[in-house]
Amino acid sequence: MTKEKGKLWGGRFEGASDEAFRRFDCSFGFDRRLLPYELAVDRAWAGALVAVGVLTAEEQSRIVAALDEIGRRIEAEPEWLDRVEAEDLHGFVEAELVERLGPLGAKLHSGRSRSELIIADLRLFVKQAAADVRRRVVRLVAALTNQAERHFGLPMAGMTHLQHAQPILFSHFLLAHVEAFERDAARLEAVARRADSCPLGAGAFAGSTLPLDRQRLAQELGFARLTANSIDAVGDRDFALEYLFALAALALHLSRLSEDFILLATAEFGYLVLPDAFSTGSSMMPQKKNPDAWELIRGKTGRVTGALVSLMLTVKSLPSGYQRDLQEDKEPLFDAHDQMLAATEIAAGAVAATGVNAERMRQAASDPALLATDAADYLVARGVPFRQAHEIIGALVKEGERRGQAWNELPLDVMRKLSPVFEPDWQRAVTLEAALERRSLAGGTGPAAVRAAIENCRVWLREQSREEDAS
Ligand code: ARG
Repeated sequence: MTKEKGKLWGGRFEGASDEAFRRFDCSFGFDRRLLPYELAVDRAWAGALVAVGVLTAEEQSRIVAALDEIGRRIEAEPEWLDRVEAEDLHGFVEAELVERLGPLGAKLHSGRSRSELIIADLRLFVKQAAADVRRRVVRLVAALTNQAERHFGLPMAGMTHLQHAQPILFSHFLLAHVEAFERDAARLEAVARRADSCPLGAGAFAGSTLPLDRQRLAQELGFARLTANSIDAVGDRDFALEYLFALAALALHLSRLSEDFILLATAEFGYLVLPDAFSTGSSMMPQKKNPDAWELIRGKTGRVTGALVSLMLTVKSLPSGYQRDLQEDKEPLFDAHDQMLAATEIAAGAVAATGVNAERMRQAASDPALLATDAADYLVARGVPFRQAHEIIGALVKEGERRGQAWNELPLDVMRKLSPVFEPDWQRAVTLEAALERRSLAGGTGPAAVRAAIENCRVWLREQSREEDAS
């Protein structure tokens, strides 16, 4: 039989592959994305082969020069890869080496397997990918923190069950999202650490036959440690699953942020003003400005969560070690990564560009209903048991509704009939400002607490940029 270019097996075969199966079997269309990592792994491997006497130093430098040349061509001419027919990226590189170096090119694969190669590539990818997404999450946190700082002091009608509940500061609302994204950043950092083990030397699953210096290989590639068991090394995809979970959690948080911004920019709320740069119009209704950026971000949640579920189900029930099913890890992983990298960047831009209708927000925050809890507390401070105070204020709200009046504008004698504890000055004690001020305990919406929270965000952001500079 004629052997196709870059095919890494076939000696024991007589018949050619079925054409449809050959195409089904090919992964070059998506694994070519890992070529920069594959080339780095190959360079390190060439050095390891010198140490064990498979290559001479001269052969090593010719192989490394050829790998560099392949790398340069990929960078200079990415369309090149569109024309290549190869089963996978490993076969592609070997074919290119053989074309340049003859039989020497075929020596590089000594003592190794594609199953460990692909895992080394993928671990390097995840380390980099998680760091890239993390950097964008940090920018999103910065955008939210800037808005929180800009609008510090602006009150908002806080909601539970989407009903007016208690007054809060708009900054406090924004910083709630910051908390979630800081957790995402921490998770992404942990993911990069988990991926940071070098599988090279695992062979197909039982370990390489060559007495390789695994530690040196790992060091050269920037891995922090070695995988401990060769069977686990080629069969484990936990690091990819954890990355997908980190992305899915990020997608959920982005989705909730989107929902908040979409809702608060509706005519009914009118708190936020959609930025032109991140909105689109309607082809039919001339007046419309739609929050498409946020809707698309919210819409990504399904496919990113799907990617996590997809890989979990791929791994489920696989026998230990490498099985070809595991090739199905890459497309969902790449897609989820690409989507979240883009979505996080768009979210940061949209947050930064969003306008605030402070008047509207202040007006809504002045709804007396929001002060009902504080009015109950006023009674509590004067010795009324809370449950009874709750009843009394509830009755006042009902009486106000009956009279078509705000409950806190009812005549004092009506109020005193329900509770003699009300003093003439009670309205001065139960105000929006006082309500906010009273919640100044750590983590609360009081101005002092929110000021401190903004400062904590600033500290966190400074730490991130210091780490960024250091790396
Ligand atoms: N393309 C495969 C994957 O993505 C790796 C190479 C196949 N390995 C093998 N031993 N057949 O997982």
